[in-house]
Amino acid sequence: MSVMRTKSVEQSIADTEEPEFRLRKSLSAFDLTVFGVGVVIGAGIFTLTGRAAHEVAGPAIVLSFVVAAIACALAAMCYAEFASTVPVSGSAYTFSYASLGEMFAWIIGWDLILEMFLGAGVVAQGWSAYLGVLLEQFGLALPPEISYGGVVDLPAIVLVLVLGALITLGIRESMRVNLVLVGVKLFIVLFVIVAGLMFVNPANYSPFVPDAVPTEAATGLTQPLLQFFSGSAPMAFGVGGIFAGAALVFFAYIGFDVVATTAEETKRPQRDLPIGIIASLVICTILYCAVSLVVTGMVPYQDLDPAAALANAFVQYGQPWMGTIIAAGAVAGLTTVVLTLLIGATRIIFAMSRDALLPQSLAKVHPTRRTPWLISIIVTVVVALVAGLTPVGILEEMVNIGTLSAFVLVSVGVVVLRRTRPDLKRGFRVPWSPVLPILSAIVCTYLALNLSVETWLRFLIWLALGFIVYFAYGHRHSRLGKDGGRYLNPAAPKIVARDDE
Ligand code: ALA
Repeated sequence: MSVMRTKSVEQSIADTEEPEFRLRKSLSAFDLTVFGVGVVIGAGIFTLTGRAAHEVAGPAIVLSFVVAAIACALAAMCYAEFASTVPVSGSAYTFSYASLGEMFAWIIGWDLILEMFLGAGVVAQGWSAYLGVLLEQFGLALPPEISYGGVVDLPAIVLVLVLGALITLGIRESMRVNLVLVGVKLFIVLFVIVAGLMFVNPANYSPFVPDAVPTEAATGLTQPLLQFFSGSAPMAFGVGGIFAGAALVFFAYIGFDVVATTAEETKRPQRDLPIGIIASLVICTILYCAVSLVVTGMVPYQDLDPAAALANAFVQYGQPWMGTIIAAGAVAGLTTVVLTLLIGATRIIFAMSRDALLPQSLAKVHPTRRTPWLISIIVTVVVALVAGLTPVGILEEMVNIGTLSAFVLVSVGVVVLRRTRPDLKRGFRVPWSPVLPILSAIVCTYLALNLSVETWLRFLIWLALGFIVYFAYGHRHSRLGKDGGRYLNPAAPKIVARDDE
């Protein structure tokens, strides 16, 4: 089937040199690490830690963070290997084009669009909610109709439009703003850890892994898919609670994969991408474990406020001003998450349009700014409208499933590319392949099975839509389908097609 055609790594790299589609190479390993930390630390740490400790894991939530980090580290290594072998914009989409074939690449691209579009919308609304809290502290509340939860979420719209203008202007400018905001965010997270340490009572850590108890069953469409199939009674806490907590806090780690979307804008991708991906994951894991140890040490897990655990832990110790600091941290923190997800979304669509799976005219790069300006504007307007006018926040789990499905295919792709192209120079190699990549695929599948039945149904609908678009447009226009992609670049090397045409 021609949908199995793969695009050779050499072809992918040659495409990046075409003047019309060439992005500016200006990013270093440091930029990428800041970019990664910028997108990873966001709503998750500020909101999920307390909720997961209170509802499913107790003080053992720190172990949930470790388990989720291990799952992410496995996937991160696979991303790092791919990104250092195929340093081309488009992240997992491009990797799977080289290893698994066009249709898988399309599915992955479609999943990543889901992750990044929805992620940007969901987090923009979260940002607006925290902005509301912050403004209230200063007695400056906006009218409810035009704030978070109102008829129009004006702050979310303004945020997306401003960040969209920035990314259209240039990658360097975006990174500079990102650096400042990541600095503020890190300072506040560290401040929370240090300030909280003073109130830690070691007695709150006991029992560290509370005994398992039956929990109010999530039923029907809201129950995890795994529970739906196994018919088992839901339990909270205990060892199972650690894993359930891991599936929940996985959201807090989402984003390190977005680093790989900037491969083409990196000066030395084979060295810098693995550093950027792995360093940002390590930094975030340390901070997350520290925050979760502090918050469960401050307040017995039964008494944590699931809605705003961090701020309320400090309120309980007579430090309400910490609530203001935490809200300020969240506003700074979520700004960089939205910024980075917008960049990621544009780079995925850029790669897909350059390959003509989406209209190729979209992928034109601005002659001086070297940004895919048309795509940037379209992405910005769509995300602004979705964030401002729809209740997209309820689709948070869809971001997880989009990401996890990409992780699974990237992990499988590493094994496939090792077999089909053992000759390629790899800046980074996953140790113990194929054991670790396969383990990565299994762990990510397990986490995805812990997502709700309704999330899976929505995901299947999204995939079906993707297939319709692919067969109605992408498959027929694909550059690779037309004379092996060489019609725009006659000098490009011949395609290594695993094709049965
Ligand atoms: N990891 C990002 C967050 O926690 C998505 O907001």
